[in-house]
Amino acid sequence: MRDDILEVLISENELQDKVSELGAQLTEEYADRFPLVIGILKGSLPFMGDLMKKIDAHLEYDVMDVSSYGTGFVSSGEVKIEKDLNTSIEGRDVIIVEDIIDSGNTLKYLTDLFKYRKAKSIKIVTLLDKPDGRQVDIYPDAAGFVVPDEFVVGYGLDYIERYRNLPYIGILKPEVYQK
Ligand code: PRP
Ligand code: MN
Ligand code: MG
Repeated sequence: MRDDILEVLISENELQDKVSELGAQLTEEYADRFPLVIGILKGSLPFMGDLMKKIDAHLEYDVMDVSSYGTGFVSSGEVKIEKDLNTSIEGRDVIIVEDIIDSGNTLKYLTDLFKYRKAKSIKIVTLLDKPDGRQVDIYPDAAGFVVPDEFVVGYGLDYIERYRNLPYIGILKPEVYQK
């Protein structure tokens, strides 16, 4: 698997330090609010799992599965709900946890949906932000790292379902997806 990686962009230690930092911020901000943390499957799973453990406050979490990329490489702009929430978000302080914002289509769709469902507040927390990919106006409230316009994988991010289990964020060698 390591042979497919051009470069380690963010090491395991750097990831964990950032997760702790974000967790401390959220602890302070949500101490008295019982937020609903919503992880967007599948990419956010490792980040969300680690982040939760660094939030020292009462919270509830749920997951929602949406897809925008299909199985390919280029964003289609279409967002499809594969699995909806089990929890009502009306009147709740929602924290959306994502692995990456690229075109912004996924989060634009979700924030519009959650506003429609009458969330009290919506905060977007993303591990990675790729501003060069943006097709719609959407900005994270908190982002771990800004990444260049490269094919990044690992720590939840995939290329045709592979590499999600890498403990770091790496740049995929172009020959892997140009095959
Ligand atoms: C990826 C990623 C984000 C989204 C970002 O998910 O995890 O959820 O795309 O792209 P966008 O800003 O262009 O919408 P994907 O739909 O590939 O599903 P996955 O999380 O299951 O890999
Ligand atoms: Mn995703
Ligand atoms: Mg994907």
